[in-house]
Amino acid sequence: MKKIYLIGFMGSGKSAIGRRLSFLLKIPYYDMDHEIVRKVGMSIPEIFKQHGEGYFRKQEQEFLKTFRDEWCIVSTGGGVAINPVNSKLMRQTGLVLFLDATFPDIWKRIHKDVNRPIVQASTREELEKLYMMRKRYYKATTHITIRTEGRTLRQITEYAAFQVNRLKSE
Ligand code: S3P
Repeated sequence: MKKIYLIGFMGSGKSAIGRRLSFLLKIPYYDMDHEIVRKVGMSIPEIFKQHGEGYFRKQEQEFLKTFRDEWCIVSTGGGVAINPVNSKLMRQTGLVLFLDATFPDIWKRIHKDVNRPIVQASTREELEKLYMMRKRYYKATTHITIRTEGRTLRQITEYAAFQVNRLKSE
């Protein structure tokens, strides 16, 4: 096991948990979206607008194939686990944790976000459909599912750390 991947829908808490888990486990943390933004030199809405979603998806896969080979935590974008090649790559190179948040919680967190082009381009109903559709892929990709409803960030992080330590020592 080389990496810990956090997967889940937009707004499920991947970055917030990733940062806290990194602090708790004392291992480096990387946010895939940030790495892509840095590499391409544009914000995510700009990448979608100028190059299209397909280009962004290629960048995501490129990241998974080439990112440094070290023991670290990676929070992924909400669309990463939908691609079977990505899904396989993550399972082969690390431990995958799925943050399973409810749609109402997610909606509260993301509906005003101008930095997420998919949210900008969708109605609440469309996003909920996407959420339902993607959930199957997250479940098929993950090693461990962590339900977040009614739990604090601290509780979720401690549970995630417990699972990582358990699997590491197996
Ligand atoms: C996306 C999720 C975003 C980002 C991009 C596309 C998606 O990441 O990668 O806007 O398709 O769900 P977050 O899950 O961190 O919001």
